[in-house]
Amino acid sequence: MVKTAIFYGSSTGNTESVAKRISEKINADLYDVAKKPINEIAEYDNLILGTSTTGIGDLQTDWEDFISDFSNADISGKVIAIFALGDSDSFSDSFVGSMEKIYQEVKNKGCKIVGFTNTDGYEYDESPSIINGQFVGLALDEDNQAELTEERINNWLDQIKQEFK
Ligand SMILES: Cc1cc2nc3c(=O)[nH]c(=O)nc-3n(C[C@H](O)[C@H](O)[C@H](O)COP(=O)(O)O)c2cc1C
Repeated sequence: MVKTAIFYGSSTGNTESVAKRISEKINADLYDVAKKPINEIAEYDNLILGTSTTGIGDLQTDWEDFISDFSNADISGKVIAIFALGDSDSFSDSFVGSMEKIYQEVKNKGCKIVGFTNTDGYEYDESPSIINGQFVGLALDEDNQAELTEERINNWLDQIKQEFK
């Protein structure tokens, strides 16, 4: 059976809450990267990686501690989709910068990265997570645009479900 898991890192609960919402919608297993779920990676065909942004465009702290273990695991052949939370008002020059950090770590590991999204409807000055005019995953802003989160998640899931195994 094809299996999907969400690996998330969350400092104050926003990313955790989004990860739970996504897992309920698609019946995916849920892992907090603070618990270093390295052995669990092998069980899954599809991986959704969720992080919040800290510092100036940095990875969430638990992800920072886990990312090299994760990217050194055998993730070749897996389908990966990334989402990140940020605050486009207070951190308008580094909006969802954490997403790009994950992308850079996994992009040359033989996995298929899916779920790029367009930047329409967001209000920020700069984001490091845009490549060829698209976010490298799903950007969410619970601080300023929480009312758009549900629709953004649903649209994104429709998109990535087509590309998942
Ligand atoms: C110290 C600190 C630094 C942050 N830096 C950024 C940033 O550079 N870019 C951004 O988009 N959001 C930034 N944020 C906003 C958080 O990513 C956002 O509030 C997120 O929803 C927190 O999710 P969490 O509770 O899962 O950690 C920062 C928040 C804090 C507290």
